Amino acid sequence: MVIDSMLTGMPLFARKRVEEALDNISTVLHMKNPKVFASMAPSAIRGLVLKEGKRKSSVQMYSKHPVTFDLSYRLDFPEMKNLYQRAVDNQWNAARDIDWSIDVDPLNPEIPIISNDFISHDILSALPVKLSNQELIRLNYCLASWMLSQFMHGEQGALYASTQVTESVHWLEGKLFGSTQVMDEARHLEVFHRYLTEKLNLVYQVNDNLFVILDDLLTDARWDFKFLGMQIMVEGLALGAFRTMHNMSQEPVLKQLLKYVIRDESRHVHYGVLALRDHFKNHISESERIEREDWAFEVAILMRNRFLAHEVYEEWFEGMMTRQQWNDAVTNSPAMQYFRKNMFDRLIPNLDYLGLMSPRIRRQYEREGLLQYVGGKNASQLSENDMVADLR
Ligand SMILES: [Fe+2]
Ligand SMILES: [Fe+2]
Repeated sequence: MVIDSMLTGMPLFARKRVEEALDNISTVLHMKNPKVFASMAPSAIRGLVLKEGKRKSSVQMYSKHPVTFDLSYRLDFPEMKNLYQRAVDNQWNAARDIDWSIDVDPLNPEIPIISNDFISHDILSALPVKLSNQELIRLNYCLASWMLSQFMHGEQGALYASTQVTESVHWLEGKLFGSTQVMDEARHLEVFHRYLTEKLNLVYQVNDNLFVILDDLLTDARWDFKFLGMQIMVEGLALGAFRTMHNMSQEPVLKQLLKYVIRDESRHVHYGVLALRDHFKNHISESERIEREDWAFEVAILMRNRFLAHEVYEEWFEGMMTRQQWNDAVTNSPAMQYFRKNMFDRLIPNLDYLGLMSPRIRRQYEREGLLQYVGGKNASQLSENDMVADLR
């Protein structure tokens, strides 16, 4: 309240910067584990303060991950071998298997890219800005392009992370599977880029908070952090977001490509839980386990709270409503509620399977209202077909 009244008296430019700084600082300040804070701080500075994801056309990220050259050529991980075989069998060709000839009109309200109640009309009408019907349709188009742009940026990160972990892992089957994931992620980057540039003609820059997570896991030398970050957290987030978008869209090209991508991503998460389960149970100390448990919690909260389309807010509403009003509107939108459920339904059982849901951390998840998701199926119990069976 005090801050609100201080902001009201400020010139617009100063107010925008202070609101943004306060919003960003709150992300970092609530982290409790000092090791997690220290490992994320350099990425937070690059992403939130220097805004490297927005200021440059390319960014150098330095990774010191080890390359494990296997000389035993042992193949003794049958579950991972099986996953590799499924990945080889299910390769697809983005140019051939998707019908790119279909015309897409992103402003046609009869075939919305994402459902017109992405942010409900009740929430929008309570905000201090009134939009015409045409403006609402255009806002929805911008939100859909924003979300798909973040998918594209995330896929580029996944391409590099999967390349790095393919070098690092010590199972030969893991390296074989990893190479299929590298191809999958290249194809995902290809399809999102093509859809955005050929069908929507609108691309947004990378979200600062997504940049922080990608920078953090691509520069961390510890392969299991990359794995936990990419295969479990980011891919878990992506699976939730892809499923939400698929079910909220009526546009056939997007629905086709998302279905293919969801099948691939479900294998990637499966690979992540197979590789990490044994590692976390048998090869790390209790203090290392706690650090990973805390890191996963912080990333989960960051992903839940911070993907709020601020780039769309700045384009449409900055100066007309506060950042907090926008945050509340997006957080409470039907799409975000559906997305959170989709995301945590899969993520929490996977963390539990990996041994990262001790009674200590459960209390923190409970405070965030996330403990209800414990007990669901983890990725090792769900095939690609299960993940697309209930899509609408
Ligand atoms: Fe992907
Ligand atoms: Fe993936």
